Amino acid sequence: MRKKIIAGNWKMNKTVGEAVELARELAAKDFDSGRVQVVICPPFTDLTAVQETLQGSRIELGAQDLYWEKSGAFTGQISADMLVSAGCAYVIIGHSERRQYFSETDETVNLKLVAALQAGLNPIVCVGEMLDERQNDETESVVERQIRGAFAGLTAEQAQKAVIAYEPVWAIGTGQVATPDQAQEVHGFIRALIREIYGDAVADSMRIQYGGSMKANNASELLRQPDVDGGLIGGASLDAESFWAIVKAE
Ligand code: 13P
Repeated sequence: MRKKIIAGNWKMNKTVGEAVELARELAAKDFDSGRVQVVICPPFTDLTAVQETLQGSRIELGAQDLYWEKSGAFTGQISADMLVSAGCAYVIIGHSERRQYFSETDETVNLKLVAALQAGLNPIVCVGEMLDERQNDETESVVERQIRGAFAGLTAEQAQKAVIAYEPVWAIGTGQVATPDQAQEVHGFIRALIREIYGDAVADSMRIQYGGSMKANNASELLRQPDVDGGLIGGASLDAESFWAIVKAE
């Protein structure tokens, strides 16, 4: 019922030339767009060149962050309208690396989510607990706080356009992937929370991606979980073959 969404978060990797090369390899691949949606999220500097390279492909473009103001004296920032004009359909918001290293808070995630929706972008909202929070049995309370904060003041109509990415911080870039049961447990919790806030229609249609050391060899099992609707892939998205093996995973 929910179409899977596999997204590559390239993080701070790939010069323009390298990005075009990877995008060209991906654009040459075939996939069933009725079954799975494919999105790649290169750095800002690569967006225009990658967008041109993806012409004629069904792969969609996303960015890794945005700023909530529309324009003006905000040196270094990129607005939602700029992303739209560069060809982006998606934007990642609230990635744990931005929360950890760049002072992202639930409040700024909310401002960015509103700005993205107003501009017609599809937001991918990232949530997830740190290792010590999991060890202290705080996973659900952390994820609930992040989701309530991100979606504060949003209507059901707005919320239904969002994708949520559950990315346990301890699994990101560590090779220590969540087990399918661990992922399903939190994904099920997230869907129940969305159901409580927004009702059945939004909860049943919202895609919840898993992220954190997802690779070709663990993707199938994760994607088979009833509430895992896709993946947000870091390291394995930097190589066409390893990313495509996940796109093709059933
Ligand atoms: P890895 O796949 O490298 O663990 O990164 C996951 C991630 O942070 C995607 O946003």
